[in-house]
Amino acid sequence: METEDFENQYPEDSSGIGEGGSTRRAFLTQLGLGGVGLAAVPLFSQAKAQTIPVAEVDMLKVTMSVNGKKQMLTIDSRLTLLDALREKLDLTGTKKGCDHGQCGACTVLVDNRRINSCLRLTAMCDGAEITTIEGLAKGEDLHPVQEAFIKHDAYQCGYCTPGQICSAVGLIQEGRAKTDADIRESMSGNICRCGAYQHILDAIKDVQQQA
Ligand code: FES
Ligand code: FES
Repeated sequence: METEDFENQYPEDSSGIGEGGSTRRAFLTQLGLGGVGLAAVPLFSQAKAQTIPVAEVDMLKVTMSVNGKKQMLTIDSRLTLLDALREKLDLTGTKKGCDHGQCGACTVLVDNRRINSCLRLTAMCDGAEITTIEGLAKGEDLHPVQEAFIKHDAYQCGYCTPGQICSAVGLIQEGRAKTDADIRESMSGNICRCGAYQHILDAIKDVQQQA
């Protein structure tokens, strides 16, 4: 703070500022403490002396097949499948959108059923078969749903796309959605901020007709 500004705000304390010596109030103001800071010192000392309990973390061993590869993980029992995939296995194709089960960006297949991986604990996946977007292509050959998404421009920014594709693969395997309304309803958990819904619908119908 410039001396002139300080003088305007604290006229009684301004002597000494800029001359190597501060008044008590100016000194405390400069530290951001003021009178409250002094009163807080004993409280702070007491708080420091207290022992803060730290919750113990349960570590678990989980074995699962991810994209056909056996994975053995030692994990915090609270770790979600989404975080295990992205952070432990570096499978970052699965996206974290809301992290609250509301957008579908994190959709993967667990034992061939589509689920929001942000809502699934990894500990619940022991022995499961997980398929993520990285596991759909066979070598250089894309999955038919991936091909159809490209053919029908079913993505714009692409952020929701891995979840949309995994969800569409699950939907087609389920074989229940027959009409446009069925497909829209069945895909309603996958939100696309870009509004590529009509193109996604066209891509899914295309693959259904090929089957
Ligand atoms: S990140 Fe899982 S539903 Fe949004
Ligand atoms: S393509 Fe951008 S959110 Fe769906």
